[in-house]
Amino acid sequence: MAEQTPDSLTSSITSRSTTRRAVVGVGLGAVALATAACSTSAGQQEEKQSQSEVTPLVDTRVAFYGKRQAGIDTPAQAHAVFIALDLCEGTNTQALIRLMRVLTADAAKLCAGEPSLVDQEPELAAVAANLTVTFGFGEKIFDIAAPAAKPQWLKPLPAFDEIDRLEDAWNDGDLLLQLCANDRMTLAHAQRTLLKGARPFVTVRWVQDGFLRAHGSEKPGETPRNLFGQVDGTVNPRQEDGTIDRYVWGENVEGLTPWVPGGTSLVIRRIHMNLDTWDLSDRPAREDAVGRKLSNGAPLTGEHEHDKADLEAVNELGFEVIAPYAHIRRAAPEKDIERILRRPYNYDLPVAAASGISQHGDTAGGISQSGLIFCSYQVDPLAQFVPIQRRLATLDMLNTWTVPIGSAVFALPPGCAPGQYIGQQLFEG
Ligand code: HEM
Repeated sequence: MAEQTPDSLTSSITSRSTTRRAVVGVGLGAVALATAACSTSAGQQEEKQSQSEVTPLVDTRVAFYGKRQAGIDTPAQAHAVFIALDLCEGTNTQALIRLMRVLTADAAKLCAGEPSLVDQEPELAAVAANLTVTFGFGEKIFDIAAPAAKPQWLKPLPAFDEIDRLEDAWNDGDLLLQLCANDRMTLAHAQRTLLKGARPFVTVRWVQDGFLRAHGSEKPGETPRNLFGQVDGTVNPRQEDGTIDRYVWGENVEGLTPWVPGGTSLVIRRIHMNLDTWDLSDRPAREDAVGRKLSNGAPLTGEHEHDKADLEAVNELGFEVIAPYAHIRRAAPEKDIERILRRPYNYDLPVAAASGISQHGDTAGGISQSGLIFCSYQVDPLAQFVPIQRRLATLDMLNTWTVPIGSAVFALPPGCAPGQYIGQQLFEG
């Protein structure tokens, strides 16, 4: 069974799935030419073939141990749960060490597809499904164990009064568990196992449950879509050109220093997306708001998703093709370091007694409670995330439909080797 490092994961799965897509593509062409009766059997055959070529989740694992934690530059899995925990009153460094030893050991087992020592449903651990467990530390952990090591940016973000309607239920936290996997059952089991280990030390502050399309339903490497239907994640730092090393891990970049080698930071913004008022806008208005096409995510000045947006281009009337208020114009970096790794997940909560249409600015009502768990990884949130968010708060057409309702910042410690635990350097000097 192959254990894959986050880096090797994309390439190995991509080749398999490209084959699958090619097979399905050829099949569809042939089907169009065939009679109705023939097309049914051809379709069934294609389906069988494609099913057998989906990577079995039981075989896919992401290495837990390493210099850096997994789950950050790992290709996004289909499901995610973000759990913010608060430490019990009186927690001291010794208790933190015990907590992180237990959590690290359990996480390593689960990511390897093995049950933890006291797993009461060990069969559920067998399908790792690319599970990653990533830990984040809030201010309090530093205050208790290593005040001198606390990064100066580790505090709530400045207020963005123009847009924020933050609810305490989704803010802050002392310790973050970010769990991602391609199977929801795996995630539920991992969540329960880890919380059982943590129970003596913590209370649960909030849980955010997110999803992308199901595993196998998209070509690996394909940029995900959000619930507005937009291709979301096109312009992002990449492994291939070293930009993830620079802007996420602070290697070879002037003006950014990681708080610890192998460490980084996470900003989580819970952003309500009003699908009722989004329904009222037509396709050209939706594309104008972002500056990209809905069909394939190409900039309005280009044809293909990864064409560079031309922010200078004007139309026959002399107006900018990508509007002054378009999201991608406002979010584009003004300084080289203003780059972040976005790895967002969608949320869609059940709506009790759903009815009616919610109005502009509402964060409840209507028939949806949907949005984005916007996750941004960067060396320094104040230098990288905040200037972008400031520009967007001042002017961004997307604000017509979106409202930030939660906000948290965490320091992500480096990974560790077998026998060690996450945070060890911090707690034991
Ligand atoms: C619900 C809220 C949001 C939605 C629906 C959204 C959607 C999008 C979409 C569709 C794109 C274009 C495709 C791409 O490059 O990914 C984009 C780009 C981008 N977004 Fe957002 N976004 C949201 C919030 C934010 C926030 C809060 C930030 C940061 C503060 C942000 C930063 C960016 C950046 C940096 C880009 C790339 C800009 C460039 O082309 O240089 N977005 N977003």
